[in-house]
Amino acid sequence: MDRAGPAELLSGLAVPAVLVRPDGMPVIANIAAETFLNASQMALAERGWAAAFGRGAIVERLVQRAFDEGGSCAAYDVALQFPGGRIARADVLVAPVGDRPDWLTVAFQTRSVATMVERQVQQQGAARSAVGVAAMLAHEIKNPLSGIRGAAQLLASGSDADGRELTDLIVAEVDRIAKLVDRMESFTDTRPMALKPENIHEVLGHVRKLAEQGFAQGLSIKERYDPSLPPVAANRDALVQVFLNLLKNAAEATGQKGRIQMTTAFRTGLKVRPEGGGAPVSLPIEVRIIDNGPGVPAGIADHVFEPFITSKRGGSGLGLALVAKIVADHGGVIEYERSGDPEQTIFRVLLPVAGA
Ligand SMILES: Nc1ncnc2c1ncn2[C@@H]1O[C@H](COP(=O)(O)OP(=O)(O)OP(=O)(O)O)[C@@H](O)[C@H]1O
Ligand SMILES: [Mg+2]
Repeated sequence: MDRAGPAELLSGLAVPAVLVRPDGMPVIANIAAETFLNASQMALAERGWAAAFGRGAIVERLVQRAFDEGGSCAAYDVALQFPGGRIARADVLVAPVGDRPDWLTVAFQTRSVATMVERQVQQQGAARSAVGVAAMLAHEIKNPLSGIRGAAQLLASGSDADGRELTDLIVAEVDRIAKLVDRMESFTDTRPMALKPENIHEVLGHVRKLAEQGFAQGLSIKERYDPSLPPVAANRDALVQVFLNLLKNAAEATGQKGRIQMTTAFRTGLKVRPEGGGAPVSLPIEVRIIDNGPGVPAGIADHVFEPFITSKRGGSGLGLALVAKIVADHGGVIEYERSGDPEQTIFRVLLPVAGA
């Protein structure tokens, strides 16, 4: 069986990537790297990193460190300075090549992980502000509600049919409010979540079944999974809630002709720094819920993960806020994106591997 050479492997990558020879020379660059670095493979092979950055650049130091320490190293959200004044922010990931560990790959993650971390911290902030409100509401509303419900039932026993219609209405609405408060209470639990290894495909399959019996009846839900995915560190019930909420939103956005996809993939190289510092955590497990609906209305797209943001009649706007809280409790990240041709709505969840 033929094996593709390193150059061919690199050329297929959308991520700017460069192969470094044991003597430190960057000899192979894919097209994405040539574009990003604004330097041709030939120039790099002849003049080294100086062809892209001038002398003494951070990339050179990272490569040296990786050689010295015989392992991988990375720098996050680095401002790369190019001749002529251009600055690009990127994560620079240096790692030995699998079967030739004296060679290195240097990859530039330009899809700014920094903004994702920022967003994650914002999500946690939003979830926290909801905690206070939820605790207060739970306390101040639930007690009087049971009183109102009881009084309505008493009234019902002495009423005619018309009166009972009204008391039934009171009871139904009280129950609806109680349920809403219950949902909000899920925000008040700030204890660390107990995580254990779970098979993500099993969780997604379960969610799919639940959805198909309920809100997603008659919709097409396709699964595209990477079967080799390792177990994820998760709380199963909480994850079910996450993907059920995402599927429900997708079903509500698409209506009867909806097409929904659930995909999984393994993405190396993506790391985020946890809130409050500490070593960066790798989030290689990617789950996407994709639908062919119109996308989040423009005015609220930047705020979908905040509580009470909704465009739906009768929506509470708590679905995605809860999803964001649970994902953050897993140390993961969630993103919203519109892309593809034709454009699709994508909610992307990134999670850590169990035991990492
Ligand atoms: N797949 C999607 N396609 C288009 N818009 C979406 C999608 N998912 C979420 N949204 C938008 O984000 C808003 C917030 O979603 P969220 O799940 O938090 O609340 P909701 O669905 O409105 O109410 P609830 O989930 O509490 O019933 C929605 O009202 C909708 O405008
Ligand atoms: Mg929702």
